[in-house]
Amino acid sequence: MNLNFLKQASVFVIGFMLVNSCSQQSHKGMGPTGTKGMVVCAHPEASKIGLSILQQGGNAMDAAVAVEFALAVCYPSAGNIAGGGFWIVRTSGKSVYSLDYREKAPLASSKDMYLGPDGEVVNGLSTQTILAAGVPGTVDGMVRAHEKFGTLPWNTVVQPAVDLARNGFPITKLQAASLNSIRKALLERNSSKPVFVSDSIWKQGDLLIQPDLAKTLERIRDQKREGFYAGETAGLIIRQMQESGGLITLQDLAEYEAVWRKPINGTYRDYHFYSMAPPSSGGLALKQLLGILAKWDLKSLGHNQVKTIHYMVEAEKRVYADRAEYLGDPSFVNVPVDELTSAKYLSKRAGEIKEDKATPSDSVRAGKVTPNESMETTHYSVADRWGNAVSATTTLNGGYGCNIVVKGGGFFLNNEMDDFSSKPGFPNVYGLIGNEANCIQPGKRMLSCMTPTIITKNEKLFMVVGSPGGSTIITSVFQTILNVIDHGMTMQQAVSEKRFHHQWRPDLIQYEPEAMDSLKVTKLLSMGHFLKKTGKIGRVDAILFWPDGRMEGGADPRGDDSAMGF
Ligand code: GLY
Repeated sequence: MNLNFLKQASVFVIGFMLVNSCSQQSHKGMGPTGTKGMVVCAHPEASKIGLSILQQGGNAMDAAVAVEFALAVCYPSAGNIAGGGFWIVRTSGKSVYSLDYREKAPLASSKDMYLGPDGEVVNGLSTQTILAAGVPGTVDGMVRAHEKFGTLPWNTVVQPAVDLARNGFPITKLQAASLNSIRKALLERNSSKPVFVSDSIWKQGDLLIQPDLAKTLERIRDQKREGFYAGETAGLIIRQMQESGGLITLQDLAEYEAVWRKPINGTYRDYHFYSMAPPSSGGLALKQLLGILAKWDLKSLGHNQVKTIHYMVEAEKRVYADRAEYLGDPSFVNVPVDELTSAKYLSKRAGEIKEDKATPSDSVRAGKVTPNESMETTHYSVADRWGNAVSATTTLNGGYGCNIVVKGGGFFLNNEMDDFSSKPGFPNVYGLIGNEANCIQPGKRMLSCMTPTIITKNEKLFMVVGSPGGSTIITSVFQTILNVIDHGMTMQQAVSEKRFHHQWRPDLIQYEPEAMDSLKVTKLLSMGHFLKKTGKIGRVDAILFWPDGRMEGGADPRGDDSAMGF
């Protein structure tokens, strides 16, 4: 008899009983609940819009499209129409789809475009200039998603964003501080003052009104894809490219296509999960992490206890080492997905982890397989009464992308090109390194960490989850899942819990100050780990489905995130 299996089965039973018993009473620490629909996202204005679409009889996909456009208005640091993202969709008929609307490298891009004459990476070129912009994918992604799944008319789901841009909305305290912090960069990088620069300084409650963005959104409402990739909007983008020295051409825009991909899927204990396949590393890394951690009884080890943290970060080192070596756009490189996620390989990786001693990152190499923000991305989770759910992560990469606003268009351009490996071994803005698999090639998609995920149990929806946070996206989603499945938390508790993160290089456990006390830090140091306190890690917005039919929204208290259900 396989003892590991028995151990895992008992952990699952205890976890299941906890979750089940929680649902019988109102649980302390529960987020808002609803039985007909739930929207959780980074800004209350967008949550309201998503909820209203659900209340009008729209399905989760209608509401998700409306939320995506609303975030482009009320959460301009990451919400976007000139960025990209990924959706995981599970339909009431139990089919699961994933949509890749990731940006692409312009046709005029080249492998060494960010290197100077000395062969070194030129600081800021891939983040702070128009050369950082990839060909946007969001609008094509939303049109395709709506054509496949939408039930309400396209203009019904886009109109709320038009209204929000035209009428304005009161900015939050965090947004006022954030906009004030980029004032100088906005003035330096734009030839005329964009609406995001206030005459004085921004204060909480000030109205942000975006007339140019309202007009762009009207064109998208009326002409769908053509309202962005052709005609007036495309003309404004090209004019901006010419003015600021960018590479994107009309051909790039005309040829951009979002792609339906087969999601990564796997099991963890008695749960089944679906997440994003390459060009995101998120789903593959999550599958590796869960596969390695399944070896241990995390429930009895305890939440954020020394041993639990040790096993988790040791797994993370190995997974991020594989990511750097093997992952890239599958249309350009052969990513050995099956090999990297096979039970045999993951058990070998788990076997490399020592019980009481950290493995220095220098000694961790990518495994041998035979054929890999700024926190400014954003995630939203939506579910409806019919059993449809959308887990969506979307981004401009850095906060407000490259900080260049398309003149007359009113929207920020992304700086997603920095997610490529500018030079093998050279870290990007998140400290992530990469190799040939993620080098720049015309038309290629840059590697992502975005990890929109849907989990089912007994073929029923169990969780919709995802996070922003650059390199910390994967580990934030990973911890949230373990918090519920292994540690029996509600969705709100799991999302609110303090987090830690390891990404192989640098060899550091980064942790939110309250994630561990000094005793745990001392113990981990004595095991050979290196640690560093950091700011906020991730901003998870998630939904948990309780056995009694309630959907619980977990909105991350690290931001202005809000969960609204009915
Ligand atoms: N730009 C962050 C990511 O795609 O992972």
